[in-house]
Amino acid sequence: MARAPVFLALLCLVATLLASGADARKMVGVYMLKKGDFSVKMTNWGATIMSIVLPDSKGNLADVVLGKDTLAEYVNDTSYFGPLTGRVAQRMARGRFVLDGKVYHTYINDGRNSIHGGHRGFSKVIWTVKEYVAGGSSPYITLYYRSFDGEQGFPGDLDVYATYQLSSPYALSIRTNATALNKATPVNFLQHVYLNLGGQGRGDVLGHTLQLFASRYTPMDEELLPSSGRVDPVAGTNYDFRTPTPIGARIRQVSGGKPGVHGYDINYVIDGAGMRKVAAVRDGASGRGLELSANQPAMQFYTANGLNDTKGKGGKVYRQYSGFCLETQAYPDAVNHPEFPSITVRPGQVYKHDMVYKFSF
Ligand SMILES: *[C@@H]1O[C@H](CO)[C@@H](O)[C@H](O)[C@H]1NC(C)=O
Ligand SMILES: *[C@@H]1O[C@H](CO)[C@@H](O)[C@H](O)[C@H]1NC(C)=O
Ligand SMILES: *[C@@H]1O[C@H](CO)[C@@H](O)[C@H](O)[C@H]1NC(C)=O
Repeated sequence: MARAPVFLALLCLVATLLASGADARKMVGVYMLKKGDFSVKMTNWGATIMSIVLPDSKGNLADVVLGKDTLAEYVNDTSYFGPLTGRVAQRMARGRFVLDGKVYHTYINDGRNSIHGGHRGFSKVIWTVKEYVAGGSSPYITLYYRSFDGEQGFPGDLDVYATYQLSSPYALSIRTNATALNKATPVNFLQHVYLNLGGQGRGDVLGHTLQLFASRYTPMDEELLPSSGRVDPVAGTNYDFRTPTPIGARIRQVSGGKPGVHGYDINYVIDGAGMRKVAAVRDGASGRGLELSANQPAMQFYTANGLNDTKGKGGKVYRQYSGFCLETQAYPDAVNHPEFPSITVRPGQVYKHDMVYKFSF
């Protein structure tokens, strides 16, 4: 799998775009959204959230998003620091699915499976900046990507929009949609933001208190696939976060997918339907809190088990549990599980995934 040459080609592409001064909206840039002392930094490389800055209870500002210092490092990144992943996020068994009797093969990039839409998924492409309002009462940026028929193995052209907006005080709303233009295709996006409410690079998140509005989960096998197709109650398991519980309380009893690795990398089925509360997190030390709402059926809870002396921002080094991800999504590998809600979008149909990150301090 010729990974390095592809990455080099991408770097050259970025460099060319930066140098040529071509259509400014197609260049890779950094875009700031700012409302008082709340600010979010984005890049149209992979629709990536680079930072979220807000005060703590004493008024001290900190960046609560793990990431990188330079765009070049984001291009190289394999930990998915902050981007929107698709066309089909999360793991897909053997990079294979059948739709309307036809077999499709997607790019294998996680052992013998696909993850996050393949090697060059939506997190590794240049999005077009459609609209950008940096300040005022509700700053926002709208990014657009036209995914082509056959891209990473997926069928049909797909029009994708993602709008990032600072709405009410200290709230970031993300509204995405995708329209299948000519063929039926599976669609599932997620925003892969690693958060540490104490500030990025400031220790681990094991003391953060987490509440999940989820009474069921999909057990995962050793490849982190929901191969059994079961949806089990969390009651009586180490996955039960229905009442606020420190992330670290039972983490040593949870398998993180690789031998000897502990931590959460598990899909929850969120109670209820439509736009609703998914999770609430609080860091006692800084006083910062986060309430996440979304309109998706499920959410992956990941405790950054794969970080291992990973170079981060501002000289910080990230390790296991340096951050957590709350990835609202469809059920993982739904394409291979008819018993899970379908993620097929037919021509003319529209996929919509909305999220609101509401911070407090
Ligand atoms: C990106 O990866 C390539 C190949 O591994 C490496 O040579 C280069 O230094 C990396 N660039 C950055 C900015 O990390
Ligand atoms: C998708 O989002 C864009 C940008 O917000 C919007 O202009 C468009 O109308 C939306 N499409 C659908 C079908 O909702
Ligand atoms: C972290 O990386 C080191 C060096 O590559 C390796 O020996 C160690 O097993 C890794 N730890 C985990 C938890 O993956």
